[in-house]
Amino acid sequence: MKLLLKSGRVVNPATNFNDMVDILIEDEKIVKIGADLQSDDAEVFDATGLIIAPGLIDMHVHLREPGQEAKEDIGSGTRAAAAGGITTVACMPNTSPVIDNSVLVQGIAQRAQQDGVVKVKVVGALSKGQEGKELAEIGDMLEAGAVAITDDGHYVDSAKLLMNGLDYIARYDLPIISHAEDNTLTEDGVMHEGAVSAMLGMKGRPAVAEDIAVSRDILLAEYTNARIHIAHISSKGAVELVRQAKKRGVKVTAEVTPHHLTLTDEEIKNFNVAAKVCPPLRSQDHVQAMIEGLKDGTIDAIVTDHSPHAFEEKDREFKFAPNGFTGMETSLGVILTNLYHTGIMTIDEIIEKMSVAPAKILKLDAGNIEIGKIADLTVIDTEKTWKVDSNKFYSRGKFTPYDGVELKGKAVATIVNGKIVMENGIIV
Ligand code: DOR
Ligand code: ZN
Repeated sequence: MKLLLKSGRVVNPATNFNDMVDILIEDEKIVKIGADLQSDDAEVFDATGLIIAPGLIDMHVHLREPGQEAKEDIGSGTRAAAAGGITTVACMPNTSPVIDNSVLVQGIAQRAQQDGVVKVKVVGALSKGQEGKELAEIGDMLEAGAVAITDDGHYVDSAKLLMNGLDYIARYDLPIISHAEDNTLTEDGVMHEGAVSAMLGMKGRPAVAEDIAVSRDILLAEYTNARIHIAHISSKGAVELVRQAKKRGVKVTAEVTPHHLTLTDEEIKNFNVAAKVCPPLRSQDHVQAMIEGLKDGTIDAIVTDHSPHAFEEKDREFKFAPNGFTGMETSLGVILTNLYHTGIMTIDEIIEKMSVAPAKILKLDAGNIEIGKIADLTVIDTEKTWKVDSNKFYSRGKFTPYDGVELKGKAVATIVNGKIVMENGIIV
């Protein structure tokens, strides 16, 4: 099988390449890159006016398998990924049961081979049952193909447990992903602590809870000389802590979500459950710090923290609604609208954060368009305007604070292993 992508602009930050060239794909691989390529027997994809990027990689996704299929499953979640231009996702282990052993890691990988439209990498739990008491079988899970370890969804209260985990993972040169909010400070807070929470009379989660947690986790990574990756960073203090740690040479990386880059706690003013997320949407000064951190390299990657919930679970009083919302079908559009079309970031910088960096952090052979590489590609129309309609999502999660919002920029085709899996929003 051959596929010829004609006349697109290939943007490949991994090699600092940005030019109009054709790409010829044979079976799964890129076999030629160059001007005016011809082939008699290839299917031709006209990419005139479009950007061809290395496939987007979303390293923070809740696919909800096993056990929470009413929220999402591998089939629906990977379709949502493909619709959003994402070719690889890393799925989180806060499922039921928790993905805390090699059998489950292998099971998810196998299920993904059968039902997945895009590639699925598995992140294993740090502690058994994510209970924060006893280390899970970290080595076994990494040997079975897990790409990182995390108790995401929970902060690891015990410094000792995290330190043991870091000591263990150091020899694999893979990261522990930290969901960083000190529980004694967040307690049962439901939104960012600030002017809006005060006005609404709702219990807040102070930004300092994140600063303290990030600070401890950086110190432990420094002490053990292991890798820590800060998940969904959202406080300006945490960004500054990562910036300083990187200057000292600590092996720390960080990710930020589209929502923490573009929305504030003002979204909560009308008790909109779709905007309830953990860590919470914060005030504008924090949002500005996320953008600065992304620009200056303190924050490495953009991820969705795609957290679908069943409609009836999420559709309830703000206080009781679960945290999180669907993200993979809006992430690229939100980023292009708010960071590219505003001139804040170049397309090369955005692709670096959404493909190259996550590949590097998880040590995946991806995020690079070169001859001989597997053809995982995202075709992007930066000028396409469209309106978010959650009823049309492939994801089972229908809540998003972007519902009804006009966006500019969209993935128009997703190519996995040399095959078009999404074209013009339709999964093929
Ligand atoms: O908003 C969130 N939802 N934050 C998390 O850390 C967990 C996630 C989920 O699993 O729903
Ligand atoms: Zn999390």
